[in-house]
Amino acid sequence: MASEAKGRTFDSCRARQFSLPLFYAVTRGVMPMPAARAPDPSFHPHLAARFQVKPGISTRILHADRLAGSEHDAVHKPLHVAATYAYPNARALADVFQGRQSGYVYSRQGNPTGAALESKISMMEGAAGTVVFSTGMSAIAAMMVSLLRAGDHVVSSQFLFGNTSSLFHTLLGMGIEMSFVDATDVEQVRAALRPTTRLVFVETIANPRTQVADLAGIGELCESRGVLYVVDSTLTTPHLFRASAVKAGLVIHSLTKGISGHGNALGGSVSDTGLFDWRSYPNIAESYKQLDPRVWGLQQIRKKGLRDIGATLRAEDAHRIAVGAETLALRIERSNDNALALAGWLESQPQVGRVHYPGLPSHAQHARATELFGGRYGSLIGFELRPDIDTFAFLDALRLVILSSHLSDNRTLAIPVAHTIFYEMGAERRASMGIAEGLIRLSVGIEDYADLRDDLAQALGRFPAGL
Ligand SMILES: Cc1ncc(COP(=O)(O)O)c(C=O)c1O
Repeated sequence: MASEAKGRTFDSCRARQFSLPLFYAVTRGVMPMPAARAPDPSFHPHLAARFQVKPGISTRILHADRLAGSEHDAVHKPLHVAATYAYPNARALADVFQGRQSGYVYSRQGNPTGAALESKISMMEGAAGTVVFSTGMSAIAAMMVSLLRAGDHVVSSQFLFGNTSSLFHTLLGMGIEMSFVDATDVEQVRAALRPTTRLVFVETIANPRTQVADLAGIGELCESRGVLYVVDSTLTTPHLFRASAVKAGLVIHSLTKGISGHGNALGGSVSDTGLFDWRSYPNIAESYKQLDPRVWGLQQIRKKGLRDIGATLRAEDAHRIAVGAETLALRIERSNDNALALAGWLESQPQVGRVHYPGLPSHAQHARATELFGGRYGSLIGFELRPDIDTFAFLDALRLVILSSHLSDNRTLAIPVAHTIFYEMGAERRASMGIAEGLIRLSVGIEDYADLRDDLAQALGRFPAGL
């Protein structure tokens, strides 16, 4: 089985050998600039000519737009807000629609500002190509709807963001078969695979209970079985983790979260790492099979996902997300430092029952997280108060921390999970995700650490230290 599968799976070297500008031209069905100036997501030729050593990711994000040839050499790709595009004659219009010529057709299928962001996300992920959507949820929905057919089977982690779980249960009602397993254990994923399994879906760090999937083990398994491996890396961001390192075929981000960071734009993305061999995937439409096999999957997600669902990222939001991404490293390091310190401090407070944070030695997957995420552990903490303490009264006592459903924002946010974002699914499904009724999700921001600790301390201090 393994050797048979090997022939069907590209290794990373082969994945990098094809021309990335070509990849863009084909996957986008549009080419916003001449091929010679098309952005290279891993290392732009202009940068290669200027620098002996490949610059770091922050440098490349900051200089990507002008070096890719933005209009008037602007340091930010301008906002292209046109809903549609004009053509000199009917033949030119038809050629663009049929992929013989590059160009934009109608902004539901993408716009140049979104394309510039796609290049940056590909660069961050070391991916071969990316499609952006209006939210993280629409990215996941478009990926699933464009790749799956009734009767197909999906293996998913049972530890999922509530809305992703909601979507997967909707698909279940539409004839997609789903198995939800404990993805911290690769053997459970292996046992759930069927001949009809089309993809395996996991979150890197699960929202909100912070379980860390056996990302590397599942990657090996999927490679050996020729199954598409989809990783939602929202809670890790490319600063902590590259999904291609664990052999994922597709990587998802809610761009609303860490990549953007400022709570002023919604967005989502699907990137193709170039590692999955789409020739082994049965649901590719004949029209996309005329193209280079390496672009089949992303082309189908782009074309069908944007056309059928229409959840296109607005140019204004693409711009805001791209500006947010410029400070990704600074923000993530600061929020992660704050989170690690707060998690340790919370664990020592007598009013606190349990703390779930991959950076704590008490976390079940602490060693795995250390190995996978380079000594950083994200900005999300789940914690429960001692059973005699009223969770709502504690939350109402917070002065600086905002009560909000968002996460990975610059500001620190808290939410009682079972009563809000995970309320509708009911107690049984919450329990299967390891979510206690009193779980508080704390998304730690970049405020000064002492201010955060003092706010939590004054709120906890309203409750007795001992029973
Ligand atoms: C892990 C994860 N994936 C996807 C999403 C959905 O993203 P969005 O809110 O942008 O639709 C979220 C939102 O919190 C998330 O935490």
